[in-house]
Amino acid sequence: MSVVVLNGASRGIGLALARHFLANTQLSVVTTARNPPNNAEEPDDDGRRWTHLSTDLTNEQSVKATASAIKTKFGAHSIAAVVNVAGYLHAAPEKSIAAITPENLHAHFAINVVAPALAAKHMAPLLLSRAASSSSPFTHVPIWANVSARVGSIGDNRLGGWYSYRMSKAAQNQLTKSLSIELGRRGGVASKQRDDAVVVVVALHPGTVRTDLSAPFIGNVAPEKLFTPDDAAAKLFAVLVGLKKEDNGRFLDYAGKDIVW
Ligand SMILES: NC(=O)c1ccc[n+]([C@@H]2O[C@H](COP(=O)([O-])OP(=O)(O)OC[C@H]3O[C@@H](n4cnc5c(N)ncnc54)[C@H](OP(=O)(O)O)[C@@H]3O)[C@@H](O)[C@H]2O)c1
Repeated sequence: MSVVVLNGASRGIGLALARHFLANTQLSVVTTARNPPNNAEEPDDDGRRWTHLSTDLTNEQSVKATASAIKTKFGAHSIAAVVNVAGYLHAAPEKSIAAITPENLHAHFAINVVAPALAAKHMAPLLLSRAASSSSPFTHVPIWANVSARVGSIGDNRLGGWYSYRMSKAAQNQLTKSLSIELGRRGGVASKQRDDAVVVVVALHPGTVRTDLSAPFIGNVAPEKLFTPDDAAAKLFAVLVGLKKEDNGRFLDYAGKDIVW
């Protein structure tokens, strides 16, 4: 059975993506986060395709246990796509280098870098090793997507500041790029018949989205530039299902446009 794993999906963009996958595909959906969604926000799951696994993505034993639970429930090569959505942005990002503290740097790096790296270590071995079936919504499987942020781009950095968040998302982007090389190589070079086992690995920018994370910053954002979590989920879903092998190693925004690394 094919499954989509959404890491960091008890609220915000991750939970909206879970709802979107359940409503628009026949796939099973695993969400992870430290907490389950509020009862009122639980995805509508008539088909019982939704599983929530309580996980601290910064804790290796917890990530390992979750990967093991996915393997037991769905099988050894069952994951069509992993989307690492979990992220952290302090409510008062540093305006100058004088404001950085080790504690704040560690907090950002734990969720924005350590978490997706541990997920890759323990969940990438569970990715599908076959082409998308005709009932799959995906153009290509398997997919690995790390939800990044435009402010993590070094090439696009014109304003400075936000040190911990920018630095941690830039480090996450380097993880994404290296993973695209390692996982994108799977089968491709050594044996042409395993070409469809190549993993497409991308970084995604969701736009500015009204969530707990963005709440302190959205006061001055023009309404047309501010997405609801459902808007962002629909746009990210369209990008994810349209990914092709050639997209491996790209940093894409919610409209599928390239962002400079
Ligand atoms: N919102 C925006 O405007 C915006 C813009 C650009 C990029 N992004 C990126 O988009 C992603 C999602 O952001 P969001 O706005 O949806 O954030 P959010 O509403 O704050 O949700 C964050 C999610 O991550 C989970 N999480 C945090 N720490 C975790 C941990 N240690 N283990 C497991 N799960 C953890 C949270 O669940 P628990 O607390 O239950 O664990 C929650 O489900 C982030 O990577 C963010 O950097 C957002």
